[in-house]
Amino acid sequence: MEIIPIGRNTFGNPANAGNTLSRSAADALLMEWVKNERLQLHMRQVGYLMRCWAAEQEGLDEAGQWRWEMAGLLHDADWDLWPEQHCHKIIAELEQRQVCPEIIRAIASHGPRYFGVEPETTMDKMLYAFDELSGLVHAYSLMRPEGYSGMDLKGVKKRLKEKSFAANVSREDIQDAAARAGIAQDELIAFVVKHQSARQLAL
Ligand SMILES: [Fe+2]
Ligand SMILES: [Fe+2]
Repeated sequence: MEIIPIGRNTFGNPANAGNTLSRSAADALLMEWVKNERLQLHMRQVGYLMRCWAAEQEGLDEAGQWRWEMAGLLHDADWDLWPEQHCHKIIAELEQRQVCPEIIRAIASHGPRYFGVEPETTMDKMLYAFDELSGLVHAYSLMRPEGYSGMDLKGVKKRLKEKSFAANVSREDIQDAAARAGIAQDELIAFVVKHQSARQLAL
């Protein structure tokens, strides 16, 4: 499928800095636009990783954590109903709802090879870094009889090297994203395994 480049580098209105949707409004948008349960889960997983990173690594307060989480939660909101307009629809929707430009920019830059928007801020880079890796870790959990329980870095690294495993997950993007974020790939994987496991095992 041909994805249309976004063709601009600024998003939202600076006057809306800090504005978010409420959690219930963001959730309602997700449920209205995304019918595919696997995709819903992916978006929630990435949202949770973003929240955890904002809290643990960036030391942000609740409002900051929610901004990060919201970017993850809605990054693929238009993929289910309008795949050919992926990113365009959700950007327009969040701009119209006067959401913080930081959140819209992070969503717009979550696939630089496809959308042509370079990740610049830490939020941009982490969303890009978690996206594919979260999917790989989840695919791995589905093939393990014990699911997420006892999952470790070593197992994930093995799957990462195995090109035929979850072949739709771009190894190139994972590597590129870690490099851009300036984080060792192992550290990133360990973070995803730790938090995504905790979330799934608590469900
Ligand atoms: Fe996407
Ligand atoms: Fe995604």
